[in-house]
Amino acid sequence: MATRTRVENLSFIRTHTRPIPVPGLEPLVLWQADDVTPIWEATEADLQRERLDPPFWAFAWAGGMGLARFILDHPHLVMNRRVLDLACGSGIVGLSAAISGAARVTWNDIDPICEAAVELNADLNLADNQRPRVEWRGGDLLESGLDDFDIVLAGDVFYERQMADRFIACLKQARVRGSEVFAGDPGRAYAPREITVCARYTVPTCTSIENDREKTTAILAF
Ligand SMILES: C[S@@+](CC[C@H](N)C(=O)[O-])C[C@H]1O[C@@H](n2cnc3c(N)ncnc32)[C@H](O)[C@@H]1O
Repeated sequence: MATRTRVENLSFIRTHTRPIPVPGLEPLVLWQADDVTPIWEATEADLQRERLDPPFWAFAWAGGMGLARFILDHPHLVMNRRVLDLACGSGIVGLSAAISGAARVTWNDIDPICEAAVELNADLNLADNQRPRVEWRGGDLLESGLDDFDIVLAGDVFYERQMADRFIACLKQARVRGSEVFAGDPGRAYAPREITVCARYTVPTCTSIENDREKTTAILAF
């Protein structure tokens, strides 16, 4: 099984994606793929592995788009605060926090290529004075307590049952331990039904990864 270095990840992203504006969130631009299948196949070939998860980092998911919109509309939630973008993919949610004046943004994902995606997307979108102390924390943090964050944000994480159950438990625990916690959910099958919805956004979606041309993302306030 092959692994890639940071430089190889940066090069893979530049080769297989291009900067594309995020509709409804302009001027935000992300390194994105035009279609999921070619980049998925290229990832499996490059890593010499089969049946990998899709390259989530190469798209802006409806949950993250809605949550990013919510943060840009309510910058006081993150201003001068320590923010975690949990399961960040491209980093879209954390970027909205950095643009909105967060003191520190930590991006996390279990897919190591996300570190390079966040780096390239931060270069595209953040001016020097919008760069908070930026931090990458790879791996699975769901059992870690998430104690050193004022606000925890998670975009589009309720699409598989086991994973959703773990995220819900983790987000509830982070709230109990004193963080503010918001998740963006576009109606995925395993989203919690008991959490207060504090906003809804209709976001345009890419038909290469979704069946619909738009989705309504609920912002769940844990
Ligand atoms: C649908 S994508 C959403 C990405 C981004 N938040 C957005 O909205 O565009 C889900 C992400 O969750 C990540 N993920 C899955 N399980 C995880 C875990 N236990 N810890 C951290 N990230 C995880 C995946 O690698 C993927 O990047």
